[in-house]
Amino acid sequence: MQVIIATNNLNKVREIKSIFKDTNIEFKTMGEIGCHDDIVEDGNSFSENAIIKAKYISKKYNCIAMSDDSGLEVEALGGAPGIYSARYASTHIDSDNNALLLKNLKGVENRRANYTCSICVYYPNDEYVISEGKVYGTIIDEARGENGFGYDPYFYIEEFHKTFAEVDLAKKNTISHRARALRGLREKLDENFNIIR
Ligand code: IMP
Repeated sequence: MQVIIATNNLNKVREIKSIFKDTNIEFKTMGEIGCHDDIVEDGNSFSENAIIKAKYISKKYNCIAMSDDSGLEVEALGGAPGIYSARYASTHIDSDNNALLLKNLKGVENRRANYTCSICVYYPNDEYVISEGKVYGTIIDEARGENGFGYDPYFYIEEFHKTFAEVDLAKKNTISHRARALRGLREKLDENFNIIR
């Protein structure tokens, strides 16, 4: 079975493929099927955006599509950057996003934050399955580690005594928001559609 992933973010693709590596699903990215469309993510939540993206690809290519929408929510910032995580700073560059985050948290004691991920699988018959995962951590002031992407060098996980950028992908996938959403999705797909065998 083929599923088109509605993203060109290779970090996400790597994480998705790694969670589903023992299944018969053949994943292809938008780029691999020649789609370079800029899908407008104008939903008000991670779930709404995930549905928008998966539906767009499913409709356009008459295929099963999977999409992910994710981001960082910081308690003291009222949940910001949230659905705007990728474009928190106007440049859309990770280092600028991180600099703005630290600026906004300057002098703030409460550093509690979470990553949230919503994953949607959308079928050509307009049925869809959605799953959400979260992981909790704190935002530190100094970058630590070279792995991962986005806010990972500043996202400190208490149980690891490390940031997400200091652990490898396999370790990140034991608890990450995306891994949790994907595992929940697998369970729902097994129950509802029986497609993963
Ligand atoms: P999306 O591509 O619209 O889902 O935006 C996701 C954005 O949230 C990314 O560009 C990152 O800034 C942030 N983000 C989501 N998941 C992660 C993660 O696992 N590590 C670091 N940053 C993440």
